[in-house]
Amino acid sequence: MAELRFDGRVAIVTGAGHGLGRSHALELAARGAKVVVNDVGAAADGSRGDEPAPAESVAEEIRARGGSALADDADVATEDGAGSLVDAALDAYGRVDVVVNNAGILRDRSFKNITAADWDAVIGVHLRGTFLVTRAVFGHLRENGYGRIVNTTSPSGLFGNFGQSNSAAAKMGVIGLTKTLALEGAAYDITANAIAPVAYTRLTEDLFPPGARELLSPERVSPLVAWLAHEDCETTGETYSVGGGRVARVFVAEGPGAVLADGSAEALRDTWPDVNAERPYVIPRNLGEQIEAHFQGLT
Ligand SMILES: NC(=O)c1ccc[n+]([C@@H]2O[C@H](COP(=O)([O-])OP(=O)(O)OC[C@H]3O[C@@H](n4cnc5c(N)ncnc54)[C@H](O)[C@@H]3O)[C@@H](O)[C@H]2O)c1
Repeated sequence: MAELRFDGRVAIVTGAGHGLGRSHALELAARGAKVVVNDVGAAADGSRGDEPAPAESVAEEIRARGGSALADDADVATEDGAGSLVDAALDAYGRVDVVVNNAGILRDRSFKNITAADWDAVIGVHLRGTFLVTRAVFGHLRENGYGRIVNTTSPSGLFGNFGQSNSAAAKMGVIGLTKTLALEGAAYDITANAIAPVAYTRLTEDLFPPGARELLSPERVSPLVAWLAHEDCETTGETYSVGGGRVARVFVAEGPGAVLADGSAEALRDTWPDVNAERPYVIPRNLGEQIEAHFQGLT
């Protein structure tokens, strides 16, 4: 089995001081990538404590294993931070090939209790941070005619979860961003995909039963990141749930629908089961394909 290598490639991994990001950074570095290990050193809720820079300790770990890494402590939720991260990567290594947008925080609150600050903080890191870092590097990727973008969504975003309106909204936003990046990057060999991980980290340690730690280790998610980030992988615009070694494609589909007899609300009531039917479905890859499916359904 030919090994997937990243020799000569440069990867940025955000939020790589802990958990999944650390694991992705180690995986890519072990396969020969030069890795920019970004992490602002936030607590799980996004607050800044007095933790010594976690990015540096992961970069040091990579170097100790014979790899090449640069630590960066920028805040990806700010325009200056995202810009300085990309500048640091280009200054140190002269190019960027892979961007893994992974940084994230949690402020779980029931919707009744959520504050605008809880909303803004989570949207700021997950959605705005993904946008800002990708925008800062996108021109460079286009010029190089190559790029692999791996974004991080979540099962709570894809399927909803009590108490997670802020992160669910952010993570579904990441899906829309990823699909559009895939379309706009296609002419430049830039792919964009999203992963929805399940892993035992400090964000989730209270959720899982004892014993889940090994099964759901971040190391069982990172091989998907390595594959999506590799030049041999041409898949784009897709989303995969991943954890414990299982990987599954998740897609947005449209059912067959129904055409209303007379366009009235009563006709809609009477055809409601058909409107809600799930099969046969189509999976439009862009707005044009959805419109085409819609008009086909009308005829
Ligand atoms: N662990 C899971 O099961 C799970 C499930 C769904 C989604 N996710 C997503 O995976 C990603 C990683 O989560 P994790 O579980 O490894 O969490 P984690 O807390 O272990 O790691 C997240 C890292 O992001 C860093 N970070 C936070 N804000 C930042 C900012 N503004 N700029 C730069 N770095 C910042 C933190 O310092 C931390 O090191 C997140 O996007 C999270 O939403 C994780």
